[in-house]
Amino acid sequence: MKDQLQALADEAREAIAKAQTPQDLEAVRVSFLGRKAGRLKSIMASLGTVPAEERPAVGQLAQAVQREIEELLTAKAGQVSDAPPPEKKAKRAAARPAAEADRLDVTLPGRAPHVGARHPMLATMDELIAIFLGLGYKVAEGPEVENHYYAWQALNYPDEHPAMDEQMTFYLNNGLLLRSQTSTMQIRTMEVEPPPVAYIVPGRTYRRDRVDATHHHTFYQLEGFKVAKGITFGDLKGTLIAFARALFGEKMNVRLRPDFFPFTEPSAEFAVTCTLCWGEGCRTCSGSGWMEVGGCGVIDENVLRNVGYDPEEVSGFAFGFGIDRFAMLRHQIDDIRLLWNGDMRFLRQF
Ligand code: DAH
Repeated sequence: MKDQLQALADEAREAIAKAQTPQDLEAVRVSFLGRKAGRLKSIMASLGTVPAEERPAVGQLAQAVQREIEELLTAKAGQVSDAPPPEKKAKRAAARPAAEADRLDVTLPGRAPHVGARHPMLATMDELIAIFLGLGYKVAEGPEVENHYYAWQALNYPDEHPAMDEQMTFYLNNGLLLRSQTSTMQIRTMEVEPPPVAYIVPGRTYRRDRVDATHHHTFYQLEGFKVAKGITFGDLKGTLIAFARALFGEKMNVRLRPDFFPFTEPSAEFAVTCTLCWGEGCRTCSGSGWMEVGGCGVIDENVLRNVGYDPEEVSGFAFGFGIDRFAMLRHQIDDIRLLWNGDMRFLRQF
């Protein structure tokens, strides 16, 4: 019987070592120590067959075996309890740094979202557009890459005319060029729409200018033109004054001085009251009290003919100016390059 108990202990040790889950251990416990049908119980059932003088020793051995099995079960229980299989354990360990990083610390101050703002150039452009929409103009846009006809010829520039030199631009290999003025759109618009027309054309223009505080190779212009029966130079001046006052207030005035442009006759240079000194004369306006912003004039009859209009029937005026210039006046910006270099320290101020 002692041999049976020793064998039972060996088997139990092995079974407990193999057990992987709490369920396995419970099965081992029931099988070896179960009170009703446990194997230890069934061995002890035949204690009566053991000679009386050996019984205490056998009893002690049985108790020792039972205690050992119980201890082994308890020890093993600590290892298998809810422990995931080894490979899962490894995955969990690997996921831990990410989980730590993702953990939400509700005590941290919030992160304010960065709210953007419109670029001062485009905001100014929208302001100008709104004024002209109010005066009954429509908005047109057109190509920045142009050909010789729209850039010069249709605008009444004779071939080789030096007026083109004032607007040296970028030429592409195929004879096309980047437009140096939005006046090109006078032609493209009137070509496809009969009079009366009243349009503004905001858009990018290019010139091979040396970049400095007031010049940039890329800039924005706003062109405007109106053609109908009986339009005169007086309508032009009234329109420019209405525009300048809508933008800067009633103190504004407009000065027109003779100039030359191939596509207008007569032509004028267009200046507005200096918004820094209001006409007193200051450093910015070189003491004149005026700031030159663009050109204008009565549309040349040749231009009207080029787009199929009859100069005996209709007449019109046109004007064009740099939007950058107005953006700078509006926000007291002293260097045009700030409008183009994307410096966030500058842009965040708007
Ligand atoms: N396109 C001219 C320039 O860029 C400005 C200009 C002058 C536009 C006279 C006009 C105009 O429409 O009539 O220098």
